[in-house]
Amino acid sequence: TFKILIKIHLHSLYSDIISTVEFNSTGELLATGDKGGRVVVFQREQESKNQPHRRGEYNVYSTFQSHEPEFDYLKSLEIEEKINKIRWLPQQNAAYFLLSTNDKTVKLWKISERDKRPEGYNLKDEDGRIRDPTTITALRVPVLRPMDLMVEATPRRVFSNGHTYHINSISINSDYETYMSTDDLRINLWNLEITNRSFNIVDIKPTNMEELTEVITAAEFHPHQCNTFVYSSSKGSIRLCDMRAAALCDSHSKFFEEPEDPSNRSFFSEIISSISDVKFSHSGRYLMTRDYLTIKVWDLNMENKPLETYQVHDYLRSKLCSLYENDCIFDKFECVWNGSDSVIMTGSYNNFFRMFDRNTKRDVTLEASRENSKPRAVLKPRKVCVGGKRRKDEISVDSLDFSKKILHTAWHPNENIIAVAATNNLYIFQDKVN
Ligand SMILES: *[C@@H]1O[C@H](CO)[C@@H](O)[C@H](O)[C@H]1NC(C)=O
Ligand SMILES: *[C@@H]1O[C@H](CO)[C@@H](O)[C@H](O)[C@H]1NC(C)=O
Ligand SMILES: *[C@@H]1O[C@H](CO)[C@@H](O)[C@H](O)[C@H]1NC(C)=O
Ligand SMILES: *[C@@H]1O[C@H](CO)[C@@H](O)[C@H](O)[C@H]1NC(C)=O
Repeated sequence: TFKILIKIHLHSLYSDIISTVEFNSTGELLATGDKGGRVVVFQREQESKNQPHRRGEYNVYSTFQSHEPEFDYLKSLEIEEKINKIRWLPQQNAAYFLLSTNDKTVKLWKISERDKRPEGYNLKDEDGRIRDPTTITALRVPVLRPMDLMVEATPRRVFSNGHTYHINSISINSDYETYMSTDDLRINLWNLEITNRSFNIVDIKPTNMEELTEVITAAEFHPHQCNTFVYSSSKGSIRLCDMRAAALCDSHSKFFEEPEDPSNRSFFSEIISSISDVKFSHSGRYLMTRDYLTIKVWDLNMENKPLETYQVHDYLRSKLCSLYENDCIFDKFECVWNGSDSVIMTGSYNNFFRMFDRNTKRDVTLEASRENSKPRAVLKPRKVCVGGKRRKDEISVDSLDFSKKILHTAWHPNENIIAVAATNNLYIFQDKVN
């Protein structure tokens, strides 16, 4: 069963809705992106002898504006600054690097610390003003002086002009030299050092756009095999491609799809089968996909049906009509694995999120809420009641708040710490250490 989760951190971004959350590969850093184009990086507090229980708190480390709103004059279209995805690069020196993307442009950011400042230039004074050369009579040797620690974010590369449609995913290859960016119809492969050229590796754009029946919804590289990647589609299928087979991977090497149960067929079937997220397990053996009502775990060696299917909020099956009318049916929920691939997590409505234990088959619904917002409050499991008599502490389907949705979550790579984005609040929960 699940350990008890306690809230260890609540951070409210004042202006904007969080649009992505991502831990770095040791879990010491956590980055969020928001609708306003900003990236906030949190760093985990170091253990202190006198307050051992405080270990785990995450504090703001750096905040910077990654993307600005732009206007595409050729198409008369506004390009939103919203950050769609963030991916960390492995650390190679004292600085940290991450990729962030909006709909069109991927940027490589360097985040570095500075605690010294040069002083005593000859041609300019301390404020940076140029000195009148006629007043310079003696030569000085500039020196480095200590100053308060400053964290700077600098854009190192800007990968633009690679996409006509909206970028939904970026994924760094395990060779750490290349990454791919995916939009509705194409996947491009980039070298992290080269911004003026990318290779198109998947293109599903039909010659006649009226024949378009399917779009790409997400894509990811295999965690260990640098030639393998997967992409998911709006028709509920997943294609696994091998870059060794051909330069353009339009023909897949594996095709995962579950035939629809004819008894469940309805007007909404195709919409709810659209895959909103696909993730390889850390081991690389499994795939997890999220569609509107379920999470599925697939074995890479079994293409015709998922290994496991978990109902996220099956009680919404009778509400699809109103969810269509208020557009919620198009919400794109993400899904994540825990560090050992034994538990999976995804979001729902009413600020609920769900966890499924793959071994014990137990599941739990938890709520990220401001109420009982005491710092180390214990999360109580929630229950949604479907028809019949509602028990105390149960919530009825009709009173769920569909404007409160948890689309983005992240799981620490080797501890039971999770980050949950609920509109403009970031919650970090940790299992209770006895
Ligand atoms: C993640 O961040 C931590 C904390 O600063 C750092 O020590 C670690 O090297 C980072 N890991 C990677 C793989 O970047
Ligand atoms: C990309 O830029 C590099 C260096 O500026 C240049 O040598 C190269 O020719 C450019 N490639 C393309 C395809 O424009
Ligand atoms: C069909 O619908 C039922 C509930 O109405 C659900 O339990 C079952 O998983 C669905 N089948 C498929 C293949 O989605
Ligand atoms: C994954 O979750 C299970 C169940 O809570 C836990 O026993 C295991 O330690 C977790 N793995 C990691 C790496 O956090």
